[in-house]
Amino acid sequence: MTAKTKTSSKPRSTRRAASSTRRPVRAISHRRAPMDAIQLLKSDHAKVDALFKQYEKARAPQKEKLVQTICQELKVHTQIEEEIFYPALRSAATQRDDAGDLLDEASVEHNSAKQLISELEAGSPGDELFDAKVKVLGEYIRHHVKEEHRDIFPLARKRLDVKALGAQLAQRKTELMETMDSGVAIGGKGLLKSLGDRLSPSALHH
Ligand SMILES: [Fe+2]
Ligand SMILES: [Fe+2]
Repeated sequence: MTAKTKTSSKPRSTRRAASSTRRPVRAISHRRAPMDAIQLLKSDHAKVDALFKQYEKARAPQKEKLVQTICQELKVHTQIEEEIFYPALRSAATQRDDAGDLLDEASVEHNSAKQLISELEAGSPGDELFDAKVKVLGEYIRHHVKEEHRDIFPLARKRLDVKALGAQLAQRKTELMETMDSGVAIGGKGLLKSLGDRLSPSALHH
């Protein structure tokens, strides 16, 4: 912060000349600090929310791609939560946390979402009820995300090493995204399931 104040006291022209001879300021690399588990999951939520909003305004040709992206994002997101995040919290929570009930409800909500996701993957934007399904999926997700933010994430911050867990989630997410991008774009339920058995949650406070 102090460095910035010093720099800004120079005349504009001098600053520009000086900066042109230096290496670029490394603002971007600072911004790319690894996200903790909560930041990563919240950033997924924000991305999907923006995609649902885009869909509302989209014309027919863009809708298919948008829905594919929404479904892929949601499949990967729910997968990393179910494989890593929820089990980690379930193990680390104390009895008084009521995490079991919270996570059971969250898993049921995931299942409802997955049902609609597979219907959307099997259909196309011209189909009857397609837009309605996208809308209802968006509503399910908004409701679910609200509960994660309100109940699950604060508990996770208390009970888990969210930094270590963030690294684990990020690694798994990259792996799943790459697998989907390399050919199983949509409908890769079975594949994701089989990949899902390979990682065990371990980032707990002991
Ligand atoms: Fe979730
Ligand atoms: Fe989530």
